Amino acid sequence: MIVLGLETSCDETGAALYHTEQGLLGHVLHSQISLHHEYGGVVPELASRDHIRCVLPLIKTLLQQTGISLGAIDGIAYTQGPGLAGALLTGASVGTSLAYALRIPSLAIHHLEGHLLSPLLSRPAPAFPFVALLVSGGHTQLMRVEGVGCYRLLGETVDDAAGEAFDKTAKLLGLGYPGGQMLEKMAQAGRPEKFRLPRPMLRSGDLNFSFSGLKTAVALLIGRHEKNATIYADIALAFEEAVTDVLVAKSMAAIKMTGLQRLVVAGGVGANTRLRQKLLQRMQAEGDATVFFPELTFCTDNGAMIALAGALRLQLAHSLPECSGSFSVKARWPLDEITDAYM
Ligand code: KG4
Ligand code: ZN
Repeated sequence: MIVLGLETSCDETGAALYHTEQGLLGHVLHSQISLHHEYGGVVPELASRDHIRCVLPLIKTLLQQTGISLGAIDGIAYTQGPGLAGALLTGASVGTSLAYALRIPSLAIHHLEGHLLSPLLSRPAPAFPFVALLVSGGHTQLMRVEGVGCYRLLGETVDDAAGEAFDKTAKLLGLGYPGGQMLEKMAQAGRPEKFRLPRPMLRSGDLNFSFSGLKTAVALLIGRHEKNATIYADIALAFEEAVTDVLVAKSMAAIKMTGLQRLVVAGGVGANTRLRQKLLQRMQAEGDATVFFPELTFCTDNGAMIALAGALRLQLAHSLPECSGSFSVKARWPLDEITDAYM
C-alpha cells in the first residue's frame, strides 16, 4: 500500500510517499524560515498563505520525482493537529479533497505521533516497546510507547518546551529565528565551564521539566558581562549544557523507571549534536540499552513521518472506508488522547 503524507502544522510544507513494503519512496519539503525570519518568529497568517501556495506544486513535484501516479495511492494522511489552525487547515482540506476525489481513505494524523514514529524511517529501526523523548519547538515529553497508537505520558514540561527555550535564548544572544541550530553553532566556540547555569527540576523526583527560568538566567548573565562574541559563545555553551544535562538525566530516569532498554529521540531538538553525544554515552554505559535517533532531515517537521504514521495506521486497520469528504483540525490535542483510538 502507498500512502501520501502531508505536513502543514507550522512553518514547513512537507509531502511524502510511503510504501508499506518498500519504505519511503520520496519526500519533498518547503521551509518558510526565510519568510518569518525578519519577524523573529512564525507569523500564523503568513504561514497559512504560504502553505496554500506551496502544497499542490509540492505534491506534483513528489509525484514526478517518484514516478508514482495519483491512481496508485491507497490513502492520504495529513496532520490534523496540534499546530496553527490556519496552517493545519491547508493540509487537512487538500488531503481530504484529494482522498474524496480518488475514493480512497483519508487518515488524520497527530503531529507528535509522526515525530514519535520518525526513527522507524531509519535502519536499524527500534522495536516496540520503547521510551520516547519528544523534544520539539512546542513540546517536551517523555512517553512510553507500546506500539502504534499506544502512548502513555510519563512526564512533560510544566512551562517552555526545550526548543522554545533554545529559540528564546538564541534571540537574547542576537541570533535569528529559529534559533536552535544557530545557538548550537555559536556554542561550538564556547569555553567549557566558563559559566554554569542551573539544571531546572533535576532533582524533582518526577519526569517533568521546566525551562522557562533558564532564559531569565541567561538574560541576567548577558546583563552582567561584556557583550562580545567570546562571552556570547560561552553563554550559549552553558545554556546548551544545562538543557541537554536535564534532558539526558530525565531520559535515563525514564529508562530506569520503565525497565525498558530502548530510547527513541524525536523532534527538532533531537538534531542537537551535544544531546546526541551525551545520550549515546549514557545509554552505552547502561550496558544493553540502545538509543535511536531519526535522520537529521526527519528530526524537524517533514511529510515522511506523516506518511509513515498514516501507512502504519492503514495497515493496522486492514481496510478503512473511503473518505467522506469531511474533516476538522485540532490546534490543541494531547498525544495520550489518541491512545487506542484506531485499535
Ligand atoms: O519538531 P520541530 O521542527 O517543530 C515543532 O514541531 O515544534 O522543532 C523545531 C524546534 C525549534 O525550536 C528549533 O530551534 C529546534 O527544534 N532545533 C534545535 C536544533 N535544530 C532545531 N534545537 C537545538 N539544536 C538543534 N540543532
Ligand atoms: Zn514538529
